[in-house]
Amino acid sequence: MKSGPGTVSVIGLGYVGLCTAAAFASRGFKTVGIDIDVKRIEQIQHGRAPLYEPRLDGMLKRAVRKKLLVPTSDISQAASTHSIFLTVGTPSRNDGSIDLTYIETAAEELGRALRQKQSYSLVIVKSTVIPGTTNKTVKPILAKSSSKTIGVDLGLCSNPEFLKEGTAIVDALHPDKIIIGSDDKKSASKLKQLYTRFYGKNLPPIILTSPETAELVKYASNAFLATKVSFINTIANIAQAIPGVDVNHVAEAIGRDPRIGPLFLKAGPGYGGSCFHKDLQALINFSGELGYSPILLKATEETNEQQAEKVVELVEKLTGPLEKKRIAVLGLAFKKGTDDVREAASLRVVRLLLKKGARILAYDPLAVPNARKSLGESVEFAKDERSALNAADCCVVMTEWNQFRELQTKDYLGLMRAPNLVDARRLYDPKEYGAMNFAAVGLGPTRNDF
Ligand SMILES: NC(=O)c1ccc[n+]([C@@H]2O[C@H](COP(=O)([O-])OP(=O)(O)OC[C@H]3O[C@@H](n4cnc5c(N)ncnc54)[C@H](O)[C@@H]3O)[C@@H](O)[C@H]2O)c1
Repeated sequence: MKSGPGTVSVIGLGYVGLCTAAAFASRGFKTVGIDIDVKRIEQIQHGRAPLYEPRLDGMLKRAVRKKLLVPTSDISQAASTHSIFLTVGTPSRNDGSIDLTYIETAAEELGRALRQKQSYSLVIVKSTVIPGTTNKTVKPILAKSSSKTIGVDLGLCSNPEFLKEGTAIVDALHPDKIIIGSDDKKSASKLKQLYTRFYGKNLPPIILTSPETAELVKYASNAFLATKVSFINTIANIAQAIPGVDVNHVAEAIGRDPRIGPLFLKAGPGYGGSCFHKDLQALINFSGELGYSPILLKATEETNEQQAEKVVELVEKLTGPLEKKRIAVLGLAFKKGTDDVREAASLRVVRLLLKKGARILAYDPLAVPNARKSLGESVEFAKDERSALNAADCCVVMTEWNQFRELQTKDYLGLMRAPNLVDARRLYDPKEYGAMNFAAVGLGPTRNDF
C-alpha cells in the first residue's frame, strides 16, 4: 500500500477503533485495522464484528471484501499508511487513576514500526487520556522508538472521540464537532485535510487548540453529562418521597429552558458504560495530583453509586425481605442498542439483590454473553423476557429495550407469582399498570409507603 493521504491505520479495534476503521473504509480510504487480540482480528478478517453495533457488521463485510479494510495483528503494517489513530483502551487502575500501559506500549511499537519509513506520517491520539499525556507520554516514547523529530518527520495530534455506543457509526459519520489539539501547524493542518477529505461538504465545525485543551474537552464533556444524570436522579429521589410528584414531568419542564436542555435528564438506575465512571475517576484523581479536590465530581459519582440502592429499596418496598425471593431482571446492557455491560447499573443492582438473598433470573436481548462473564453462575439467564418473568416475585426493568415496552399488564400478571413491577428506566406509563403493584424511579411514594 502506498502511504498517500487516503490511507489510514487504526491501532486498537474496540468500540471506538473498529467503528472508526469501518467508517474510513466505507468512504474509500485504504484502512489498516490493528489489534493485539488475534482472535478478534480473525473474526474481523471474516467480516464479522466482535461486538454489537448497529450497521457495523454490514460495513465490515463490505470493507473486507473490497480489501479497503485490512485487519491484522502486525503493527508494522501501520508504516504503509499516512494517518495512524491510536484507539487502544485507557482503563482505570485500582485507585481510579488512568492506566496508560496500552497507550505506552502501542506508541513504543508504532515508533519502532515507523523507524525505517522515509515519508511523513501523522499519529493521532484518539483514546481518552488525561491532559498532558500526548505531550508528556506519547511524544517522548514515539520520538525515542522512531528516532524521528516530532512535528517535523512525524506529526502528532490529540483528537478525542465523542461517539456513543449504540449509535457509534452514525456518530462517526456525523459528529457535532471535531477537536484537534496540536503544538505544530503541520500536524493540525494534515489532520484537518484528512477530515475535509472524509466529510467533504458536511465537514463539522473544527476546533483547533492545544493537545492539553483537547484532552480536557473530552473529560469535561463526560463529566458534564454524568453530572446531569446524577442531578436528575437526585431530584428523582426527592420526588420519590412527595405524593403526586413525577420526576419525568419535572425533567420535561426544566428541559424546555434552553440553558438546561432536555437531553440526559432521564431519571433512572444511574449511568453505566465504559466511559463515565472511568473518566470521572481519572479526572478526580488527576485533579487531586494538581492539588484540587473536585467535590462536584465526587458527589456525581457517589450519587450514581447510591442509585442502585434506590432501585433495590423499591423492590423491597414491593416484596418485603428479599431472602429467597425470585427476581426477574429485564435488561443487562448499560443502555439499549449495545451488548456492553461495562459498569452497567444492572450489575450493581443484581449484586445488591444477591447480597440480600434474592434469586435472579435475568434476560437481555444482546448482553447475556458479556453479563455471564461478570456474573458467572450467580444468576440464571433466561432465553427471553417471558421466561424470565415465569413465577417471579418481582420484576425490575433495568434497560430501556423497545421489546420490554411491549409487555403489558396481562403479560406480567399471567406469568409472575406476584404482580410486583419496578420500572427503573421509566419505560411504562404508570396509569396503565394500575392493576399491578407498580413502583418507578422518581414517581412519588408507592402504595406500600402508606
Ligand atoms: N467505548 C466508547 O463509547 C468510547 C467513546 C469515546 C472514547 N472512548 C475511549 O476510546 C478508547 C478506546 O475505547 P474502547 O471502548 O474502544 O476500548 P476497548 O477496550 O473496547 O478496545 C481497545 C482495543 O485495543 C486493543 N489493544 C490494546 N493494546 C493494543 C496494542 N498495543 N496494539 C493494538 N491493539 C491494542 C485491545 O485488544 C482492544 O481490542 C478509550 O480511551 C476510551 O475511553 C471510548
